[in-house]
Amino acid sequence: MRSPALRASPYEPWHQHFLRNRGAAHAFPWLESPRLTARERRLVACSIQQFQLGEWARGRGLMRRASTHSAFAADLAFLPALQLFVAEEQEHSGILGRFLDREQIPRLQTHWIDGVFRRLRKLAGLEVCAMVLVTAETLAIPFYQALRDATHSPLLRAICVRILCDEAAHLRFQAQTLGLMRRSLSRPARAVRAFAHSVLFHTTTLLLWQQHQRVFRAAAWTFHRFWNEARREFALLERHITQVTAQQPFLDSARPPRLAD
Ligand SMILES: [Fe+2]
Ligand SMILES: [Fe+2]
Repeated sequence: MRSPALRASPYEPWHQHFLRNRGAAHAFPWLESPRLTARERRLVACSIQQFQLGEWARGRGLMRRASTHSAFAADLAFLPALQLFVAEEQEHSGILGRFLDREQIPRLQTHWIDGVFRRLRKLAGLEVCAMVLVTAETLAIPFYQALRDATHSPLLRAICVRILCDEAAHLRFQAQTLGLMRRSLSRPARAVRAFAHSVLFHTTTLLLWQQHQRVFRAAAWTFHRFWNEARREFALLERHITQVTAQQPFLDSARPPRLAD
């Protein structure tokens, strides 16, 4: 029987979601799919290398900060859910790594952008750490959409679809966390947080385009389309955060999606 603390936790549905997702069958055509063409390889290799590195995180700093944060200390479902979330990110990195190995594209050990993001997360508290993470995840959505459309490889397309499904849920999970952290803040303090997040997001959006525009152009995306898609995802994220901050627990939009969504 579940304890009352677990029953009351908004993270219990998330814990269940990540468990279900981990157990779900995700088949990829590793054997049947042809290799990338030389042109595709030239267009997407560097971007996949960077994302493979960026998706890898042990999450130790995040877990340590989360375990001592007042908003979550008493929530017995939060840390197990967070652990499964980190494991899902590691799985993304593992899948992309296997893809790179199959294509004989070397895995990166370091990249300056990854280094900057990791340093930012290390220096920061839980809220900034979550803000930096969710910024990358919000932008991962247009990136994987474009990567999917830029290739004819059934394998790479299947990998993108799987990651896109997971990332859509991650945005809601992170919105839940950021929303709960902001609940105790005054209106002006929330507005300052939202402004800082917006600056971080828009700066990172420009950087992402600068780094990965070859993939977007290969998928026939213009900068205008990319900018609008990215901002649309960010607006959705902000709406989820505001709803969690302002309302009673268990708002539908903050719940995990069904796996079939
Ligand atoms: Fe991911
Ligand atoms: Fe994610």
